[in-house]
Amino acid sequence: PSDTQMLDASLPAADEKRLLRVLRGERQQPPPIWLMRQAGRYLAEYRTVRAEAGSFLDLCYNPELACEVTLQPIRRFGFDAAILFSDILVIPHALGQKLWFEEGRGPRLEPLQGAGDLAALDPGRIEERLQPVFATLGLLQKSLPAETTLIGFAGAPWTVASYMIEGGSSRDFLKSKRWAYSDPEGFARLIGLLVEATAGYLIAQVEAGAEVLQIFDSWSGVWPEPEFRRWCLAPQREIVRRVKAAHPQVPIIVFPRGAGPLYVAVAEEVGADALSLDTTVPLDWAARHLQPKVAVQGNLDPALLLVGGAAQDAAVDRILKQLGQGRFIFNLGHGIDKHTPPEHVARLMERVRAQHSTPV
Ligand code: CP3
Repeated sequence: PSDTQMLDASLPAADEKRLLRVLRGERQQPPPIWLMRQAGRYLAEYRTVRAEAGSFLDLCYNPELACEVTLQPIRRFGFDAAILFSDILVIPHALGQKLWFEEGRGPRLEPLQGAGDLAALDPGRIEERLQPVFATLGLLQKSLPAETTLIGFAGAPWTVASYMIEGGSSRDFLKSKRWAYSDPEGFARLIGLLVEATAGYLIAQVEAGAEVLQIFDSWSGVWPEPEFRRWCLAPQREIVRRVKAAHPQVPIIVFPRGAGPLYVAVAEEVGADALSLDTTVPLDWAARHLQPKVAVQGNLDPALLLVGGAAQDAAVDRILKQLGQGRFIFNLGHGIDKHTPPEHVARLMERVRAQHSTPV
């Protein structure tokens, strides 16, 4: 080892991938870029494989095809990271809950009615049932270009619990909130079970080849502060603690969508290496209050990718200007929309990569 490595073991190695360098505390210019939901229906080649696979879940559990659709956006656009093709709802599925995807309606689950239904969930067989997901990661590790980082992921306990209780997507989360407010101990048991399952699942993803993990708390923005802290922040922190206890070097990105000013609490208290910013987070505020503490990722409005052209360019430039001075990963503020023209994604890539090296 060189002298520098011996002086500071946490310094990134010279050959380390660009996304990993940012997560270990360096600024990169141009910033690394990937997009949430970058594999999916906006790509014709995805629709072809999806039709061949059968159902969406069949695709998630088919390692060859899941590997193929993960690689499609890498081949087309050359993103700095590939995100495992799977879904946050494979955890309830592996716990034994009925899950299916209805065309045009999204995910459907046989809803949990209360703490009495927890006995039917079996956390002991998750790793066995999710073997195809680990096999996909193994295939990806062998097939990805040397410069591309492999991201594994899971949903955060609250977001996953909301689907388990509502039986699918929801507007108001009233069943979940009614349960949490009327029976907090019972609800805490469900969240605790999901912390356990999710931490074990993420650790197994690292062992199967994931180099970075992202935790999606897509619905964290619906709670008052005390409940946000109890049902979103604390479970995120416990998962990060468990994963880091097993794999101290693995960087973790947390996406507490809609957390508003509580993004600061997440930056200070969860122990994540990076936060993914939703579209509403003000850039100057993030640069001042978040970026000194963690790397930030985001936050182009996915709707701008429907429009493209000058409107898209101006928004991209504004983000690069305001967040590009610090530790930054370019991404969207939420998942890409299925109506996005792929040419607009190509234009985004060109614009971000055209940022040349400038000193901080
Ligand atoms: O490319 C990637 O980002 C990796 C794959 C990925 C999917 N879902 C594939 C998918 C990831 C990371 C997810 C995460 C996910 N899934 C979240 C968290 C992120 C977010 O968007 O907030 C949530 C809430 C889910 C649950 C889920 N899965 C919903 C609500 C839906 C229906 C929405 C829709 O667009 O139809 C899904 C289905 C789903 N997950 C699709 C894909 C590509 C579309 C299914 C299809 O091809 O028919």
